[in-house]
Amino acid sequence: MKVANNILELFGKTPLVKLNRMTKGLKVPVFAKMESMNPGASVKDRIGIAMIEDAEKRGMLKPGGTIIEATSGNTGIGLAITSVVKGYKCIFTMTEKVSVEKRRYLQALGADVVICPMTAKHDTPEHYLSVAKRINAETPNSLFMYQYNNPSNPDAHYHTTGPELWEQTKGKITHFVGSLGTGGTVSGTGRYLKEKNPNIKIIAADPYGSVFKTYKESGILTEGTPYLVEGIGQDMLPENVHFKYIDEIINITDKESFHISRRLGREEGIFAGGSTGTNLAAALRVAKDLDEKSLVVFIVCDTGERYLSKHHSDEWMREKRLLEKDKTTLGVVLQTKLTGGLPNMVSASPDETITEALAKMEKYNVSQIPVVEQNSSLGSLDEADIMSKILDNPLTAEKKVNEIMNKPYPVADESEDIRHGIQYLKESPAILVSQYGRIIGILTRYDVLDFV
Ligand SMILES: Cc1ncc(COP(=O)(O)O)c(C=O)c1O
Repeated sequence: MKVANNILELFGKTPLVKLNRMTKGLKVPVFAKMESMNPGASVKDRIGIAMIEDAEKRGMLKPGGTIIEATSGNTGIGLAITSVVKGYKCIFTMTEKVSVEKRRYLQALGADVVICPMTAKHDTPEHYLSVAKRINAETPNSLFMYQYNNPSNPDAHYHTTGPELWEQTKGKITHFVGSLGTGGTVSGTGRYLKEKNPNIKIIAADPYGSVFKTYKESGILTEGTPYLVEGIGQDMLPENVHFKYIDEIINITDKESFHISRRLGREEGIFAGGSTGTNLAAALRVAKDLDEKSLVVFIVCDTGERYLSKHHSDEWMREKRLLEKDKTTLGVVLQTKLTGGLPNMVSASPDETITEALAKMEKYNVSQIPVVEQNSSLGSLDEADIMSKILDNPLTAEKKVNEIMNKPYPVADESEDIRHGIQYLKESPAILVSQYGRIIGILTRYDVLDFV
């Protein structure tokens, strides 16, 4: 086995993997270019080392220097890994939109991270690009990499990604699909492939809200609108987007990007980020009309582990209203409710007093609670009902819960569909939700209505 002298020798030369399940019914083979298998687990490792070594050759980066970059995270990781090996310091500016995983990764590699507001408009002092420029001006012996117009960015793909794809497909590639962040991947790879065979179609996948598609098709630069996929799309035109190599731009919604990315993990075992979902969604759209003589390659931009707190989390998907409606289970509704900071369930035990139970209801501001013992639903208490009984007879407050409790709430498994829950709630003011036979929470009519 070959031994690497340092981690930098392992950048690039990533494998190509054929999809099998997600392409059922298609005639054309579709291959994933596994950029997530780079040492920093993204396509941007390639430009991290390229931009640094290019700056070294030009004498722009001196020993002990500081590298500054505005990044959605992945370029920062590529730069930071290279900097660790070569002995540079790193300062990165990022927007609040970037996942906490990427931020912590950079800090774990020893970089400083400056978080900027997501709402800052391009060219305002608060925008993450302006902040990077300012820090560069204030930091001695520093270099702003500026991946948006740095020619080493597309060049890295021209010299590595393009030739790898040409060799790996033995020149049979007919369609290449990538997404546009800085434009480096698509511009560099596209240029190389077009030089080899001008008939190869270069397709860019772009989130709805980004300006690229409208600009390519009409020449009009619109105002971008927010979207959730990270690392791709823009509200401006980076110089590294070379439209002349791009045949078509396909817009993809956040929802489709995230669902396709999740399916890629579950159906092909390839765990990737949201922009990979954008690419694959576009690739599958293109592939529908192609026959076996074609060969489609799409870029797996980065690993899904970078988004465990984002689209690979059901809670996050639900919060953003991106989960498919027919998959809404009682467990899903319960988890949404639990994020409100309330305890899973406030319950009374059968042998405590009504006064004690009322105190609990007041503390947690709930008006109905189940009576539970040893994981069994024995009865229920309703505040208004108890109050009227106490008004009739003040001694009721001293009674045990099991003496005056109402009938128990039904128990339903967390995997049951919300529609079944709604049926129960027509008869009962609340239901208890169980998981593998253990009661884990309560849903009232209000909770379900709130969710719906
Ligand atoms: C997750 C992710 N996907 C795709 C891209 C797009 O790559 P490029 O900048 O080469 O256009 C980026 C760029 O930062 C990214 O971070």
